[in-house]
Amino acid sequence: MDFKEVLEVHGQTQLLALCKTDAEREMLARQLQTVDWSTLAFRPNEDPAKGHIAPITGLRLHEIEENKSRYRQIGIKAVKEGKVAAVLLAGGQGTRLGMDAPKGTYDIGITRPVYIFEQLMDHLKETVACCGGYVPLFIMTSEKNDAQTRAFFAEHDYFGYPEQFVRFFVQEMAPCVDFEGRLLLEAPGRLALSPNGNGGWYASLKRAGADADFPDVEWYNVFGVDNVLQRIADPVFVGATIASGCMSGAKVVCKSRPEEKVGVLCLEDGKPSVIEYYELTEEMANLRDEKGDLCYLYGVILNYLFNAQMLREIASTRIPVHVVKKKIPYLGADGTLIKPEKENGYKFESLILDMVKLAGSCLPFEVVREKEFAPIKNLTGVDSVESARLLLKSNGVQL
Ligand code: UTP
Repeated sequence: MDFKEVLEVHGQTQLLALCKTDAEREMLARQLQTVDWSTLAFRPNEDPAKGHIAPITGLRLHEIEENKSRYRQIGIKAVKEGKVAAVLLAGGQGTRLGMDAPKGTYDIGITRPVYIFEQLMDHLKETVACCGGYVPLFIMTSEKNDAQTRAFFAEHDYFGYPEQFVRFFVQEMAPCVDFEGRLLLEAPGRLALSPNGNGGWYASLKRAGADADFPDVEWYNVFGVDNVLQRIADPVFVGATIASGCMSGAKVVCKSRPEEKVGVLCLEDGKPSVIEYYELTEEMANLRDEKGDLCYLYGVILNYLFNAQMLREIASTRIPVHVVKKKIPYLGADGTLIKPEKENGYKFESLILDMVKLAGSCLPFEVVREKEFAPIKNLTGVDSVESARLLLKSNGVQL
């Protein structure tokens, strides 16, 4: 099929008028070869229906405390033997924080600079000091922030971490469409693209071959960029997950109230699954067990452990696509770039939380919210720079 036929078959002939030169048409034709057309057919709220939802049993704080030294020993051994890697998901756009630069470069300090990346690297170094072995760190970026992220780490001397244990890899991009499903351009011959969500991390890691130098890795601790209090490759968490025989583990906090807006770990048709807060009915959200605890108690904090063998086995399984409304700058019919004030189309993302279900088994591992959960999503208010600063200070971090 030639370029024009491809556009006709997929109902995208509006792009023809926007590409005026051969060079522009060729550039676009090349990009169209990488488009997954089946993904573009999704629309919001077309997520597959949920199965039967039931509460999941997790490892509570007192149980962890009782077995802590055993778990820690197992975890330390795994780290020392090079079996545990860390994966920092830093490909997001951080739109809520309103930054152009990568979110990890944000300075949360008050009297001195304290960068989000630096804070995370400090936590990783704590693990290394405790275990006596280095943890390979894979950092996922996107085309939009890769160069800046690499430069920032180089400029800060990898925050004292040995460079040979750090690898960057770039996640894939997915085209954006308007509400009618028409592809948009961000420049003549160039599709408007956005990062394809954090669920593609393993596929992107493998495609980049970033793990080639670390063949012994058996567990990946995958975490988001914005929780500045989280422990990374925490040996107790690693040990408890290995001891449980589960193929994945999830750090969780107990929900502070039934309506808290956090993804909840539960069972779906007998398999572990994370469901969004709005997918829980009011009745389910308020349901309590005989001890008075919420039945749907465990909020996920984007800190997971995944078994490498399991990941290899599910590598060819398709992760569900989620459709998100977004403001997408686009080329208007007259060829000028329009920056919309309101959402004007959809982006397509896969989410890491869907990997928990694919893993088949998951250990919910409770952590103390005030000690391990300080996400930075916004500048002020809930989950913000302000709230994270207070939490960091109460944990003895000088800002
Ligand atoms: P969020 O869902 O908070 O998205 O990502 P975001 O892009 O960082 O922020 P907003 O929504 O635009 O304000 C959770 C984690 O997943 C990573 C983010 O970097 C963050 O660590 N992520 C998200 C990716 O690595 N790639 C993506 O495509 C999306």
